Order: sequence, then structure tokens, then C-alpha cells
Amino acid sequence: MTSSLDGRVAVVTGGATLVGHGVVQALHEQGAVVVVVDIDAGGAQEVADRLGDRVHVVVADITDDATVGRLVDDVVSTHGSIDILVNLACIYLDDGADTDRAGWLTAFDVNVVSAVMMTRAARPALASSGHGAVVNFTSISSKVAQTGRWVYPATKAALVQVTRSMAMDLASDGIRVNSVSPGWTWSKIMDSLSQGDRTRTDRVAAPFHLTGRVGDPVEVGRVVAFLVSDAASVVTGADWAADGGYSAMGPEQGVAAIPQLATEGAH
Ligand SMILES: NC(=O)c1ccc[n+]([C@@H]2O[C@H](COP(=O)([O-])OP(=O)(O)OC[C@H]3O[C@@H](n4cnc5c(N)ncnc54)[C@H](O)[C@@H]3O)[C@@H](O)[C@H]2O)c1
Repeated sequence: MTSSLDGRVAVVTGGATLVGHGVVQALHEQGAVVVVVDIDAGGAQEVADRLGDRVHVVVADITDDATVGRLVDDVVSTHGSIDILVNLACIYLDDGADTDRAGWLTAFDVNVVSAVMMTRAARPALASSGHGAVVNFTSISSKVAQTGRWVYPATKAALVQVTRSMAMDLASDGIRVNSVSPGWTWSKIMDSLSQGDRTRTDRVAAPFHLTGRVGDPVEVGRVVAFLVSDAASVVTGADWAADGGYSAMGPEQGVAAIPQLATEGAH
């Protein structure tokens, strides 16, 4: 079995920023034709311009069902099929305990319901592809409590579970469905919060990532490229950590805590 994606058509929602660019690049490296679907026309065009041939842009809002239906039809009529769907688009809207009803509904609409609607619309094409594969973007945030965050982690936890449901019911169509849970990954939000300071970002992340740094977008992208390839033909319904060991680490972090029993307070 091969990891080549030669001749396969991939749709990547939210492909317009750094993590999305890494995923598009990794799929492109394996030979796929990649359609970037995003509301950010400039960011989507940037990755198309950088990678050139085989990357196409569709500017679309995936919270609109008519738009979703139309874009899936257009991809199939223009490129002949949809073999791969990556549901990556998200919003980080989250005021923790103060989030109002509209905020909760918007976040679930983008992060969960739109991924489901994209998959629902693409299902016939994925089924006729003969090797259909879906990857949903989840997160380390799906499994742990983070201060001031109630909404985003809940959407990601929901998507981990929806991934299992999709895998169960799409298996009869020959479609595999998995999720990828990145740890801290060099992204637009980190770029803007740290004012482009990757060294500081790595230093902040080091205590809770075994690798001692944030991930690179393309490293996460290569996990996606593996999962949607025939090399992962036995993998479905799984949540893959692409997190530099974040989820392997417990509250003790990389600190030798037990020896402190002998030394703490021993004066
Ligand atoms: N950045 C991290 O460290 C990190 C960690 C864990 C998981 N993730 C996950 O990785 C994915 C990418 O994260 P990111 O930090 O690059 O996010 P981002 O906000 O930079 O990118 C999300 C993209 O989704 C697009 N989008 C939002 N709403 C849309 C809509 N209605 N229709 C079409 N496109 C829409 C945005 O325009 C943007 O390009 C997300 O699913 C996120 O949950 C990221």
C-alpha cells in the first residue's frame, strides 16, 4: 500500500491560514489536487500561488447549506471526484463561562455542524471514489480543561465523537473517517499573540510538549496525508494525536516529582 495521493482530489475547508497551508502542502506533496475552501480569499490564494499547479481556491462560507451543496457539485464537475475531505475550518469564539447562547450556537455551527454538513454533501462523491477518506480537525483541547475556555473544547470533544459515528455509518460506503488532534501548532493565532516570536512560543510550549516546542503546520499536515492515503487503509474511527507528546504527559509534566518527596521540606 502506498502513501501516494496521485490523481486524488482533496477538499480542505479552512485552508487559508498557517495550519491549513501545512495540510494543503502535505497533500500536494503526495500528488493530490487540492481545493481550498475558505471565507478568507486572500489567505487561500496565497497558498495556491505558493504551491502553484494543482491547488484551487473556492471562496465559500461552510455554514450555508446551499453554498456547501453547490461547492461540492462544482468540485465534482470540475475535477471529476472528491476522494478526500479535510474538515479543518474553525472559529475560536469562546468567552468561557460568559459565552452567550448565540456564541455557543455559532461555535458549534462552524466547528461541528458545518463539518457534518460538508461530509453529508460530499458522501456520494467520497463513496464513488472507492477510497474515500475524511479527516476532522479536533484538538488536545477536547480532553482537558483549559482556563477560560468552555466552548471551543466542547466543540472539539463533540467532533471526536462525531468522527466515531461517521466512521461507523460511512464504512459501508468504503469511506474511512478519522480525526487529528494537534497540540500547540505554529499558527495564525500564535503568530499574532507572540508578534511572530517563534522562539518565545516554543519556550512557553516546552514544559507541556515532550518535543519541547510547538508543532509545524506541515508536520500536522503529513499526519493528515498519511491518514487519507491507502497506507492507512486499516485506520478508521480513530483520533490521532499530532501533539508533540502533549497528551502523553500528565500533570507532573517533565519534572521528576517523586524525588521531591525526599527533598521537599527536608532542612
Ligand atoms: N493552532 C493550534 O495550535 C491548534 C491546536 C489544536 C487544534 N487546532 C485545530 O486546527 C485547525 C486549524 O487551526 P488554526 O489555528 O489554523 O485556525 P485559524 O482560525 O487560523 O484557521 C481557521 C480557518 O477557517 C476559516 N473559516 C472559519 N469559518 C469559516 C466558514 N464559515 N467557512 C469557511 N471557512 C471558515 C478561517 O477563515 C480560517 O482560514 C482548527 O480546526 C483547530 O481547531 C489548532
